[in-house]
Amino acid sequence: MKNIAIVTGASSGIGNAFLKLVCKERGIYNSIPFDEIWAVSRSADKLLEATSSIGDERIVPVTADLTDPGDLDEIALRLQDECISVGLLINCAGAGFKGYTEDLGIDNVGCQVELNCVALSKLTRICLPHMIDKEPPYSLKDGPRIVNVASSAGFLPQPGFAGYAASKAYVISFSRALSYELAPYNIAVTTVCPGPVKTEFQSKATGGQSAEFTGIRKYVAADKDKLAKAALKASKAGRKMFVYGFSQKALHVASKILPSDLILSIESKLITVPEVNTYSEGDNVVTPLPVSSKEESV
Ligand SMILES: NC(=O)c1ccc[n+]([C@@H]2O[C@H](COP(=O)([O-])OP(=O)(O)OC[C@H]3O[C@@H](n4cnc5c(N)ncnc54)[C@H](OP(=O)(O)O)[C@@H]3O)[C@@H](O)[C@H]2O)c1
Repeated sequence: MKNIAIVTGASSGIGNAFLKLVCKERGIYNSIPFDEIWAVSRSADKLLEATSSIGDERIVPVTADLTDPGDLDEIALRLQDECISVGLLINCAGAGFKGYTEDLGIDNVGCQVELNCVALSKLTRICLPHMIDKEPPYSLKDGPRIVNVASSAGFLPQPGFAGYAASKAYVISFSRALSYELAPYNIAVTTVCPGPVKTEFQSKATGGQSAEFTGIRKYVAADKDKLAKAALKASKAGRKMFVYGFSQKALHVASKILPSDLILSIESKLITVPEVNTYSEGDNVVTPLPVSSKEESV
């Protein structure tokens, strides 16, 4: 039986940082290296460019739009036909769109839920029969692992990034519950919650308006390679929740003890919401709703 790792969002940013590290990883039971490492994203060209620089022949580029049920079916069929065991699943593909909800395109609003929540849950469900051993011959430390990339945005509602923050709250809740569901099979589920990370995400989230973080975020923006390394270490240690960086840990604690309204009012003073005129750049992007349709749809 082939033992593989799957990394989604592997063509860029944090997912690509994970992919590089997974190439050095050992497989299930901490002994055998993975036979294959499936690198998943939509763009075949970007995937090829990102994976060829790593130069590991075990990498299998899988071009798939995870919001497309047909593409998910293909992954499911392949896992079944090739009799595959999944030793590591890293759900990292994600997207977010900044701006007030009324200014965003309908598809942008939907995409955050379809990719960040629905696709992540469906792919996890697809992989589970290939991970679960009813009588696991390994401990939690050595067993298969799932790493779900959420965000500190999921700790609290976030005006100006409402759908994204809500989608990441879902990822946190789903993953934490899953970690208990899968504990009897010694499968570790780690929810990773970074704050801002220097990747293409910010540029895509603002429709190309701003590639850099602004305000307080630019001082706390993390390095993707360091984040991925620390997150894999947390996963190997069997940690259920991994919040990255001091500022995000402080936010996590504050979100649990302070009234949400107080934090939200401070947050709304510190954070500038981009004025969204158009979302026309990049693959994630969908044209905004024309003003006339907006009026009709109210
Ligand atoms: N960067 C941050 O500040 C930050 C902070 C906290 C959490 N996160 C989370 O970290 C994760 C990775 O983000 P990143 O910063 O690395 O962003 P990124 O550089 O934009 O990477 C996103 C990845 O997701 C893939 N993707 C997008 N839509 C997809 C789809 N429909 N199907 C399959 N793959 C898709 C993209 O490839 P294609 O475009 O080729 O499909 C790309 O590989 C996301 O879940 C994000 O929410 C990011």
